[in-house]
Amino acid sequence: MSNPSIFNNFIAGEWVRSATGQTYENRNPADDSELIGLFQDSSEEDVSRAVVAAREAFESWRLVPAPKRGEILYRAGEILRDKKEAIARDMTREMGKILLETRGDVQEAIDMAYWMAGEGRRLRGYTTPSELRNKFNMSVRMPVGVCGIITPWNFPIAIPSWKIFPALICGNTCVLKPASDTPLTALHFVEVLHEAGLPPGVLNFLTGRGSKIGNPLVEHPEVRVVSFTGSTDTGRTVAAKCAAAFKKHNLEMGGKNVIMIMDDANLELAVDGALWGGFGTSGQRCTASSRLVVHKNVYQEFLQQFIERAGSLKVGNGLAEETQMGPIVNRKQKESILNWIETGKKEGARVACGGNALEGGSYGKGHFIAPTIFADVRPDMRIAQEEIFGPVVSVIPCGSFEEAMQIGNGVRYGLSSSIYTQDVNRAFVAMREMNTGIFYVNSPTIGAEIHLPFGGTKDTGNGHREAAEATLEVFSEWKSVYVDYSGRLQRAQID
Ligand code: UN1
Repeated sequence: MSNPSIFNNFIAGEWVRSATGQTYENRNPADDSELIGLFQDSSEEDVSRAVVAAREAFESWRLVPAPKRGEILYRAGEILRDKKEAIARDMTREMGKILLETRGDVQEAIDMAYWMAGEGRRLRGYTTPSELRNKFNMSVRMPVGVCGIITPWNFPIAIPSWKIFPALICGNTCVLKPASDTPLTALHFVEVLHEAGLPPGVLNFLTGRGSKIGNPLVEHPEVRVVSFTGSTDTGRTVAAKCAAAFKKHNLEMGGKNVIMIMDDANLELAVDGALWGGFGTSGQRCTASSRLVVHKNVYQEFLQQFIERAGSLKVGNGLAEETQMGPIVNRKQKESILNWIETGKKEGARVACGGNALEGGSYGKGHFIAPTIFADVRPDMRIAQEEIFGPVVSVIPCGSFEEAMQIGNGVRYGLSSSIYTQDVNRAFVAMREMNTGIFYVNSPTIGAEIHLPFGGTKDTGNGHREAAEATLEVFSEWKSVYVDYSGRLQRAQID
């Protein structure tokens, strides 16, 4: 067997080994025998080097005119477009989701590159009248400094792009620590920006375990913004550390998203939506439609169609074009999902489809779980309350539209919700009443577009939004500027 490829960190414009001299293995979750490569198992010392490089680069990058920064992002978008297929394939190899979806993931980064490239010529502040004569008032966006970017494995290029492109356009520099399951995709992202002409030190990249390098990155005094997507538990720690040091931080965390299917819904459409929302990315999305609240008048009919279609989904290696659902990202995650399935059974929910790992034959080398449906779930069961992050959907009966909304809102998360109905009045009431950051009518809870704010309420977020113009609030600081051209002392609130 040939030697495995060793991939390096990227610090101050150079590809370098970790100070530890150690590496870790990255394997294909559809076929554990495939070693994708060895990646640097970085330490606190590497974090320091990366932050120092980013701090140094900040002094010149912040002075590059934003439209010029935008041109680099635009070029990055063009390169991503050219490499879309190759990156998508590597992404499928390292985290498993099907090619159709990994292509979408790269597309999301391309969209974000073009959007933020344009932002280089906007970065709007505002001008406003002064209360005094011959005085001019305006507010401008200023960069903050070094941003620590911590990203998950389920959207290994889209999510880094949501954070890094806006950080860069605002004039900040970054240290990216991708999830240890998806270092290769993140490395491609870094290569693309390098090729697009990003100066050395503006984006630094280091791989390794969150337990070793997460805290040092969050705690480093020169890191002034932390942008984190991951679990609510880790997010709480990040928030506490950032709060103590008065760092800006935005958190995108868990979800327990609901589709409400009313008795006037187009059921075929609702089944299509529930399958895509529940089992896309093998359910490993913060936005996954993990709860379906279905009106009792259509409950049996919906359930029957849903079970039939879920049971015939083709599960397998995401690289095969016919595959509809890929593997679970790693063994630990697979075990956690199987534990949740056991919990559901113990709580008395009925397994109506799947409920088991897929083993043997072509499944033998990977981490596969059958699309799983729990029927007759009560809203207070743990499987209907906690994020499972796998292909497990809970179907909950309800008696009315009002009850559906009550159940829908009855969880600690608030990312995304949706309703299937033909009644425009109900759709608008639900839009107003659902306590989530994202809301859909007649489509599932996934499928956010990059030019609308992304994020959630309650335990999902900390009040910030990603993507769109809203994300600029995370990566810039307002400066209010007063220019008095009266030639005399004028006193606000007094003269
Ligand atoms: C996530 O679930 O972690 O809306 C992000 C969506 C995708 C992004 C999901 N565009 O499902």
